Amino acid sequence: MAIQWFPGHMNKAKKQVADRLKGIDVVIEMLDARLPASSANPMLAGMTSKKKALKILNKQDLADPTRTRVWIDYYNGLNDTRAIGLDAGDKSPAQRLISACREIAPHRSGLDKPLRVLICGIPNVGKSTLINSLLGRRAAKVGNEPGITKGEQRIDLADDFILYDTPGMLWPKILVEQGGYNLAASGAVGRNALDEEEVTLELLKYLIVNYPADVEARYKLDGVAEMLDDQLLEAIGRRRGAMLGGGRVNFQKTAEIVLTDFRDGTIGRITLETPEEWKDWLTEARRLDAERQSARDLAKAERAAAVKKRRG
Ligand code: G4P
Repeated sequence: MAIQWFPGHMNKAKKQVADRLKGIDVVIEMLDARLPASSANPMLAGMTSKKKALKILNKQDLADPTRTRVWIDYYNGLNDTRAIGLDAGDKSPAQRLISACREIAPHRSGLDKPLRVLICGIPNVGKSTLINSLLGRRAAKVGNEPGITKGEQRIDLADDFILYDTPGMLWPKILVEQGGYNLAASGAVGRNALDEEEVTLELLKYLIVNYPADVEARYKLDGVAEMLDDQLLEAIGRRRGAMLGGGRVNFQKTAEIVLTDFRDGTIGRITLETPEEWKDWLTEARRLDAERQSARDLAKAERAAAVKKRRG
């Protein structure tokens, strides 16, 4: 799936984050609990490897609670890292955030040594919503198109706890193909950048194996586990009356229905990846990348040899 990112914006954000990182004690990365690894920003991982980290698995109200636990345990097992699940319904996000950060950076407290925290996240992960809730008013803009620029903010959550909002946009970077599909299914990718039918077929492929009962209940279908993704899309289209003339299913409309149902949690609480799956996808992506690189190297060597031969 071709998703067009903007390297210029990415580099600008990288520089802004790098400048801001000086003097930061804890870096909070907000992740989408339905796709924690896919919604992480790999550039950030490289820049913040020496910092203490808090991973917020946000939108946990939409994610599979068993899998959220698995992901939290996974992150808690990493060096200098803590993870918490969160969603916009949480009544005291500030308290949860402050205590998790204090746990990993106990050396910073008191007015002379305030804990300085930077919060980051790719668009659509719910950062503005959380910041608005921390501020207690609608200061940061909350929009439904990913990529709306927001200015940097400083929020004093306590006398000795300062939260900085990341300047600029931290776009996700597609490392593995499945990660791209998961980001697209979650709504983190602008509509123009993706083929909704293709994204939906990938989503259904995963749901057939991992959440067949939820799909059956939502669309009043039987035998979902035995269907192929395109058969399921067709069955959903018929069930929901998304038809063209001549008894043909309107696949585009059906894809939109499924994506909307997934995004607002109507199909159920679903998580699209586990730490093990992500590890396998990453290994495969790196293998393919190495293969492509060797093919490029070989072609380059052949071209050089041909030039040498021509020159005698
Ligand atoms: P961002 O700053 O990281 O880009 O994300 P933002 O807060 O704008 O949130 C993106 C969308 O996700 C918004 O929905 C927001 O309401 C929703 N959202 C944020 N946190 C949560 C959460 O914990 N659970 C759920 N279920 N949704 C959450 P929207 O439809 O794009 O906008 P709106 O209709 O809410 O204004």
